[in-house]
Amino acid sequence: MNLATLINDGNTLSDILNKYQNSVILCDQNTETLCLPLLNLNTEIPVISISAGETNKSAFSLNFIWNKLLQANADRNTILINIGGGVITDIGGLAAATYNRGIKFINVPTTLMGMVDAANGGKTGINFNGLKNYIGTFTEPEAIYNWPEFLKTLPFNQIQSGFAEMIKHGLIADKKYFEKLISLDIKAETAEFINWNSLIQKSIEIKNAIVSRDFKESGERKLLNFGHTIGHALESHFINSNLPHGHFVSAGIICETFLSHTVGNLDLAESQKIIFSIDSVFERIPLLAKEIDEIAHLALKDKKNKEHKIKCVFLDKTGDANFDNDITLKDIVESLSFYNS
Ligand SMILES: NC(=O)c1ccc[n+]([C@@H]2O[C@H](COP(=O)([O-])OP(=O)(O)OC[C@H]3O[C@@H](n4cnc5c(N)ncnc54)[C@H](O)[C@@H]3O)[C@@H](O)[C@H]2O)c1
Repeated sequence: MNLATLINDGNTLSDILNKYQNSVILCDQNTETLCLPLLNLNTEIPVISISAGETNKSAFSLNFIWNKLLQANADRNTILINIGGGVITDIGGLAAATYNRGIKFINVPTTLMGMVDAANGGKTGINFNGLKNYIGTFTEPEAIYNWPEFLKTLPFNQIQSGFAEMIKHGLIADKKYFEKLISLDIKAETAEFINWNSLIQKSIEIKNAIVSRDFKESGERKLLNFGHTIGHALESHFINSNLPHGHFVSAGIICETFLSHTVGNLDLAESQKIIFSIDSVFERIPLLAKEIDEIAHLALKDKKNKEHKIKCVFLDKTGDANFDNDITLKDIVESLSFYNS
């Protein structure tokens, strides 16, 4: 299991990256202009740049990256350096895992989502036929380098997005961490004053502890999907919206906390406290009544389902969760109706 290294200054990161021989950089149009210039990288390293955004985590972009690697004469000794958010580390990881039957790659996450979640744990992937992360591999990066300075240019809604996954980490594994997170005043005006380093470190520790025990997600790793059964269905439904991933996860956390109480064992007062704290950070996504059924049906296609049963993570208490709970289409409809009320 590769642990992310937290770097405190850009020169150190540049020195580390410049030492990799025979490398190719992958970024998106935003990280190319906002993040790459902060690193004094050798100008001879070829740069592949794709359009930004979730819709580009696609087979089309993957094909584009493979072609660019070929043009750059990349071979088995080449290392791909992914500089960007979760879209870049997911698709870059998949491009590297498949090109020439697999070349090495490094993740340099530039979003909070990337630092606390997407760049760690070895899941790579693209969306396919409107379904989230349907094609992908479990392949570990050679290394992960987190430099929180990148967060300075990140729009606030992207900070919120990463924050949703951090809240999830607290909810499934560490009550104290959850309480610390919700005590922070996360607003556009205050986010830049938050000392992210120790929080990022904590989230990585929680995720890595789980992943190290169950890399291929046959059991415990499923806990990390809390909020994602319904969150992914919402994200698939709104695939062309510009709303970041974590906002759908926040909606999924509300729905799945509701179900943890109505179908599972979570205490009512505790479920209300959790939902209240999510509402203090995220605006709800308005749903039309007729969309709810469609979204619920999308949850049926979730990769984590078995034998046509929808599987869901439930909280037992704050900081304690369990996986593989069966839920019905009706449960999902009810939770979405509650969310929309
Ligand atoms: N592999 C995993 O385990 C895992 C875990 C969680 C999420 N994910 C995936 O990650 C993706 C979401 O990641 P994300 O939220 O980082 O999205 P993203 O990569 O689309 O980045 C969000 C936006 O921020 C821009 N950006 C990136 N860094 C910036 C910076 N420093 N300053 C200004 N703008 C910057 C990007 O260009 C993009 O427009 C989803 O596809 C999700 O499925 C994967």
